[in-house]
Amino acid sequence: MKAVVLISGRGSNMEALLKAGLPVEFAAVISNKPEAYGLEVARQLGIKAVVIDHRQFPDREQFDAALAAEIDRHAPDVVILAGFMRVLTDGFVRRYQGRIINIHPALLPSFPGLHTHRRALEAGVKVHGCTVHFVTPEVDVGPIIIQAAVPVLDDDTEASLSARVLEQEHRIYTQAVRWLAEGRLMIRADGSVTVFDVSRQIAALISPQPDAR
Ligand code: GRF
Repeated sequence: MKAVVLISGRGSNMEALLKAGLPVEFAAVISNKPEAYGLEVARQLGIKAVVIDHRQFPDREQFDAALAAEIDRHAPDVVILAGFMRVLTDGFVRRYQGRIINIHPALLPSFPGLHTHRRALEAGVKVHGCTVHFVTPEVDVGPIIIQAAVPVLDDDTEASLSARVLEQEHRIYTQAVRWLAEGRLMIRADGSVTVFDVSRQIAALISPQPDAR
């Protein structure tokens, strides 16, 4: 399977994918921001890293057209959004529908959008987490592939909670891309995702145990 990864910043999810020994040819990493740290990480790992700076385009349509042109040069089977912080136009998403995936730092459908950890703390939820999903034109609502949950602790800050979630992001994104590469994912007619041959080891749900008595 051939993949192109889109980033906007740090690129730790991208790095986890590139280092996971997946049966994937990573043809390129593309950032919409020239200063994205992940570009350097990709280059150091020997992956072609390209900038398509969204500020150089007058509108979303033209940025997305340039982005699609660069992606299509590599003819990837999948497009992997890894901390890519631009909303994509419907036309762009439809072009790759069924082969474009994203990681979101919350247990969707809770907390779509930005600042998920802050909002989780404000809401007082006791369980938080992350979701890998297929991308559809409406933001953060596409078919869910895998989720991981973590506890929210009393003394959590945005930073401590996001670090706990990020560890799980790296794990489940790797798993999801492996499933895709192995052809194990199918989107059913009702929009839910079936995984074939799931090993029991992948379950990440953390259910707090009651106090021992
Ligand atoms: C991650 O939390 C991802 O879920 C969110 O943005 C963050 C990107 O982190 N969309 P990184 O660039 O992968 O380190």
